[in-house]
Amino acid sequence: MIIKSLDHLKLISNKIADKVSENDCIFLIGEIGAGKTTFTRYFINYLQKREGIKETEVLSPTFNLLYEYDINSLKVMHYDLYRINKSKELDRLGIFKDDLSSIKIIEWPELVEPNLANRLELHFKYSKKENERELSFAGYGKWKDIKTNEL
Ligand SMILES: Nc1ncnc2c1ncn2[C@@H]1O[C@H](COP(=O)(O)OP(=O)(O)O)[C@@H](O)[C@H]1O
Ligand SMILES: [Mg+2]
Repeated sequence: MIIKSLDHLKLISNKIADKVSENDCIFLIGEIGAGKTTFTRYFINYLQKREGIKETEVLSPTFNLLYEYDINSLKVMHYDLYRINKSKELDRLGIFKDDLSSIKIIEWPELVEPNLANRLELHFKYSKKENERELSFAGYGKWKDIKTNEL
């Protein structure tokens, strides 16, 4: 499908946020500037607003690898694994262990073992127009039957 604008991306992120629950994982795939962090910002700010807590800045965890957001009973972990180049490094960080209670949003998830059960993969591509993006997706586990008209 085509994401027509930033407002449209916001709408899509909000719809996904309304379906999300603990232990879900969202893989964000696409080149630099494709919209992964912007999607995450809308997603987190929407949940903060919905849960009646203050909207915070949502910055790219390019250098920190991870930013965490506590949104009442929801914990959202936002990863950017661009700088990691071996799965060993990922193991060392231990970021996917012992934590089934958080929502994980992962930019550059290529090194993550795709065994996280309830997983939604979003693939962003540049489009002809500057403010458009092409979006394709694949769902696993509880996301398996998600359809374009639900986004
Ligand atoms: N429809 C759109 N979807 C996503 N991003 C868009 C769109 N239109 C314009 N943009 C701009 O593209 C940039 C995407 O950057 P960012 O989200 O940081 O990308 P990434 O995290 O994938 O590197 C932002 O400046 C955003 O405002
Ligand atoms: Mg990013």
